[in-house]
Amino acid sequence: MGRRTSVDMDRRTYVKVVGASGVAGLTGTAGCLGSITGSGGGGSKKLTAGTAPGFPPFEMKQGGELVGFDIDLLEAVVSESEYTLSGWEEFEFKGLMPALGSDKIDVVAAAMTINDKRDKKIDFSNPYYSADQSILVRKGGNFSPSKLGDLSGHPIGAQKGTTGEGIIKDELLSAGKLKQSNYNSYGSYVLAVEDLVNGNIDAIVVDKPVAQTFRSKRDVSIAFTHKTGEQYGFGVRDGASDVQKALNSGLKAVRDNGKYTEIRNKWFSDS
Ligand code: ARG
Repeated sequence: MGRRTSVDMDRRTYVKVVGASGVAGLTGTAGCLGSITGSGGGGSKKLTAGTAPGFPPFEMKQGGELVGFDIDLLEAVVSESEYTLSGWEEFEFKGLMPALGSDKIDVVAAAMTINDKRDKKIDFSNPYYSADQSILVRKGGNFSPSKLGDLSGHPIGAQKGTTGEGIIKDELLSAGKLKQSNYNSYGSYVLAVEDLVNGNIDAIVVDKPVAQTFRSKRDVSIAFTHKTGEQYGFGVRDGASDVQKALNSGLKAVRDNGKYTEIRNKWFSDS
């Protein structure tokens, strides 16, 4: 499968992220990295995929290459269909839905939670993974929140445009339990974890499987998990029912033929 990544992150960001963490595979994106390849229109059965790396183990950069569960899964799913994948484009998470809308990409594979707000603007495949939100804190620190309200008065962070940010907005900021100045939004969770480890913020709200991955690589621990029952789906343009159907039958095929389990075991060794 021709995997085509676009412009790399600028060097300063690269050095900050990789140099400071010393962990391969957890690099993030600080800016919009997408470039336009077009979406293979004209009735050809080609799809360009979009993702937002820095969300391990779903999507991340490893030695300059885009890898992860979503990458392998979407490639397997599409190869079961009449479509072919022409390449991958990288964006900040919040840029993915606009990129779909402006035809820069045809499919989003970015651990994107299916919810009503998004469903009004785009369509989703059937669910392919479930997750709750976890609250990450510094390992061995003395801050041990056990519920969302305990985050009051502390600087906390999340990635822009995510459901983790949504929880902070809906349950803390709007409820007057957190000052706006205590909320820090990041282009990537890798940068948020960097700030957490360095003591610039005290907690992060992030999808549990990603929190577990960071916990195994960085000096962070999970203080508690906030149950949301989220389900990830592949995003397609509103009304793109042919692509949606192809992805759904592809998903069924990879579940039936064992490929889904194989990919899952490759990226989630301990669960
Ligand atoms: N599941 C969360 C959401 O849909 C977070 C997804 C972030 N994904 C990423 N590739 N950075 O909002």
